[in-house]
Amino acid sequence: LRAQDSSFNVTIEKEMDRSLPDVMMVSQDVSRVFLNIVNNACYAANKKKHSGQVPDTYMPTISVATRRLNDRDVEVRIKDNGTGMPESVRAKIFEPFFTTKPTGEGTGLGLSLSYDIIVQQHHGTLEVNTVDGEGTEFVITLPINQEAATA
Ligand SMILES: Nc1ncnc2c1ncn2[C@@H]1O[C@H](COP(=O)(O)OP(=O)(O)O)[C@@H](O)[C@H]1O
Ligand SMILES: [Mg+2]
Repeated sequence: LRAQDSSFNVTIEKEMDRSLPDVMMVSQDVSRVFLNIVNNACYAANKKKHSGQVPDTYMPTISVATRRLNDRDVEVRIKDNGTGMPESVRAKIFEPFFTTKPTGEGTGLGLSLSYDIIVQQHHGTLEVNTVDGEGTEFVITLPINQEAATA
């Protein structure tokens, strides 16, 4: 984002559970999911900053938290204080090619691919909580042991 907007700045708050076990996954694919969700979060926060709707003191903030959810799963939460989404947008975000971004800035494939990677490929879950104008949170769960999850 800084390539397009040299003034862009974001605070990233991390609350990582350092005692989590290793999770069995295709890490290149799951990394793409995290990258896409964090990119979307930065975009939404930057859009809000330039919307004219927030005071100059508004600071784009992304929070990332991990924890052990239960015997089977770990959970990753990625939250932003960006634009949020109205229900009409939220309902479509996992559809291929759905984007609200201008041509050249979005393909609309990030979240549909993310859904396939987390849900189909890794037998996890991908959910979204959003409040229009306030922000958005993506909640990912991943089974620690893929073999147990597919058995
Ligand atoms: N953190 C977010 N805050 C607000 N809107 C979001 C957020 N993440 C995704 N969206 C919405 O979901 C749409 C689809 O996202 P995605 O599949 O990654 O495609 P793209 O980023 O190419 O538009 C975005 O265009 C945007 O409307
Ligand atoms: Mg995207």
